[in-house]
Amino acid sequence: MSPVLSVNYVSGTTQKATPGHHTPGVFRIQRPKRFPNRSFDTILSVIEPPRANNHSMRLKDCYNINDFRTLAKQKLPSPIFHYIDGGADDEVTLNRNTASFNDYDLIPNVLTGIEAVDLSTQVLGQKLAMPLIFAPTALQRLFHYQGERATAKVAEKFGTLYGISTIGTCSIEKMGSYTQGPKLFQIYVHKDEQLNHDLIDRCKAANFDALALTVDTIVAGNRERDRVTGMATPPKLNIKSALSFATHPQWTLNYLFREKFDLPNVSPYIKDGSNVKSSIIDYINNQLSPCISWDDAAAMIGQWGKPFAIKGIMSVEDAKKAVEIGASAIMISNHGGRQLDGSRAPFDHLQSIANAVGGEIEIILDSGIRRGTHVLKALALGATACSGGRLYLYALAGAGQAGMERVMTLMRDEIERDMMLMGCHSISNLNPSLLARRP
Ligand code: FNR
Ligand code: LAC
Repeated sequence: MSPVLSVNYVSGTTQKATPGHHTPGVFRIQRPKRFPNRSFDTILSVIEPPRANNHSMRLKDCYNINDFRTLAKQKLPSPIFHYIDGGADDEVTLNRNTASFNDYDLIPNVLTGIEAVDLSTQVLGQKLAMPLIFAPTALQRLFHYQGERATAKVAEKFGTLYGISTIGTCSIEKMGSYTQGPKLFQIYVHKDEQLNHDLIDRCKAANFDALALTVDTIVAGNRERDRVTGMATPPKLNIKSALSFATHPQWTLNYLFREKFDLPNVSPYIKDGSNVKSSIIDYINNQLSPCISWDDAAAMIGQWGKPFAIKGIMSVEDAKKAVEIGASAIMISNHGGRQLDGSRAPFDHLQSIANAVGGEIEIILDSGIRRGTHVLKALALGATACSGGRLYLYALAGAGQAGMERVMTLMRDEIERDMMLMGCHSISNLNPSLLARRP
């Protein structure tokens, strides 16, 4: 007989999990009517008071991305945490992405008379206050109920570019009204051509500044952690994951009682709608088009008519093709090690690409950034700017908008301090002579 679970959330509000119709032992939590907003925060704070013991991480104790990762791990049910944290296969590429920065040493110049450091730079037609942008990431309201709205506000506050994913949990239209800051829409090409066409038109109407076409995800990478945890979207309770959801009541209650989970940019077009029943991996494999070509990319640049980036370029040849078809930028990226394991780390290949196309196209170095010095090293080797995903997602998951504000303050301080220590007044001072590869 399949076991029956019931989750007792708040006194008087017992929520019974109902056995799934098709899969023995699998439960989907029924969404109740929304809880009155006023009392909700109070109830949550009673259910999950701030932990006082020395072993738990608190926001005020987070000083680096690794600390935020620990905080996120504490706050999230394990399937959600591992979806963010994990990579493909043996995670060799995931690990190399960050380790690659350690093979180069910075060589500072001294006595350069610095009074102030100017971190501003120009990316995709936008003047940014700092050279680190928010890479587009899917499903943000699954990580924290504030989701994309908070991410956009933090990007605006720090004067940087925000990227929203096609499979984000906020609509193009709402995002257009949430932020006055520069915003980019990341496009996944679907099998449904009408959907692709409409996404671009909707971005135009919502006044997006730039488009980024992701080209490294024509099929999903083999993310074994997601298989082990049974990561599904929206989350399902099964025997393996039930304990994890039950021991993270704050996350679970937020998920149940806040705004309903949806993928509003695509749900009207997809038969399953917002109810991506199985997993994001199945979504990628079933809905996205593996046939996309350089001609398609060129046609999109024509339809869009504004700054356009191609995300997921890794070879010199492809970088040259991006220049040929008139892209404004390439994002050198392996999708944070989530797709092709064993592929080269972007930083390892940056110099070759910069030597070939630097000056002809903007280069955004993506994947593995965890420190201010990583940004400096990438800019010194020829990147126009850097982008990061997990660095802000851990903070979002750990503490919502406040977490992301803290992480961006730390990153901006690191970049600024490191620039001073390098003897650099502005981004334009960074060049290859300030780096040496270790023998
Ligand atoms: C991503 N990334 C991603 N990229 C994209 O083009 N569209 C998307 O929807 C997503 N979704 C997504 C979700 C999660 C949870 C992660 C961690 C990443 C990839 C992202 O834009 C970026 O390339 C990587 O995150 C960069 O690696 P780091 O900075 O996380 O090491
Ligand atoms: C990911 C997809 C959604 O990396 O881009 O999970």
